Amino acid sequence: MVELPKRVRIIEVGPRDGLQNEQRTVPTDKKAEFIRLLADSGLKDIEVASFVHPKWVPQLADAAELLRELDLTSSVRYSALVPNMKGLERAMQTGIRRIAVFTAASETFNRKNINMNIQESLDVFMPLIGRALAEGISVRGYVSTCFVCPYEGSIPKEKVAEVAGALFDLGVDEVSIGDTIGAATPKDVEETVRFLLERFPASKLAMHFHDTYGMAVANVYQSLQMGITVFDSSAGGLGGCPYAPGASGNVATEDLVYLFDRLHIETGVSLESLRIASHLIARELGRELPSRVLKVS
Ligand code: HMG
Ligand code: MG
Repeated sequence: MVELPKRVRIIEVGPRDGLQNEQRTVPTDKKAEFIRLLADSGLKDIEVASFVHPKWVPQLADAAELLRELDLTSSVRYSALVPNMKGLERAMQTGIRRIAVFTAASETFNRKNINMNIQESLDVFMPLIGRALAEGISVRGYVSTCFVCPYEGSIPKEKVAEVAGALFDLGVDEVSIGDTIGAATPKDVEETVRFLLERFPASKLAMHFHDTYGMAVANVYQSLQMGITVFDSSAGGLGGCPYAPGASGNVATEDLVYLFDRLHIETGVSLESLRIASHLIARELGRELPSRVLKVS
């Protein structure tokens, strides 16, 4: 019998990853209400925005206005994506205390997503992370396309470890391992995560599963059995990357909370309160969200 962890940390990425691909613009005040409801449900880490080029991701162009509507002194850790120094400058003006840089294990995906190759992105991150840390802003790192790339196919675990290691060397405190197009299976996860755990402590790794093929909950369970305790998810299963063709939403936060509740693993999140947040954003988007648990009332 594998011993499962007693508690996990959920990083809610719905307001960022969840909304970035949505065509219908959600007004800033509705985003703020969604985020407040997410915080009310007990979520302590919420990624709320991106300081990327507004033309690349129009839905998140209101990042600065949105941050003004949130209480950055509360116990909730709000964070935002930052791709370059220009993004950091915009982020710093809002008083945000945590940012995330993002690159990939696939050269082609990285070029399409942030118009840089992997080494160029690391070169951009070095001064950016240094500046952020000097200002007391903590930094998370993402590695996208860690299993399958929509352009290059299967990605070797050695490449994932190399990019994750480079991000740790630059000073990030956690690396999120992304299955950007939701194509991984538990066997892929086992191989890559085992390789990573030989190099990095479990406490510094997070898993970020999209659910295109319905494998995300199985992949979370696989990672959990290997000692991973940090998982990214989106309320209702919102999400997808506009530069990853075919990518669907993140694993739904409700589906994870249900799983963890049933396993008696502490999350600090109330499923009932979370539903209120997801119903609000579903109404704003005018569509039903994919979460299975959300559909069960
Ligand atoms: P670029 O065109 O190469 O940028 O885009 P540039 O540095 O050449 O600058 C061009 C112009 O953009 C300049 O303006 C800059 O000032 C401006 P001009 O002088 O021409 O007037 N600019 C900016 N403006 C505002 N904010 C900025 C910024 N940077 C430059 N930060 C760039 C490069 C990175 C900006 C662009 O490619 C970009 O914004 N990409 C973002 C793509 C994105 O957000 N993708 C989705 C998030 S990643 C994801 O979803 C995966 C994840 O969930 C994990 C997983 O699932 O795997 C994290
Ligand atoms: Mg993602």
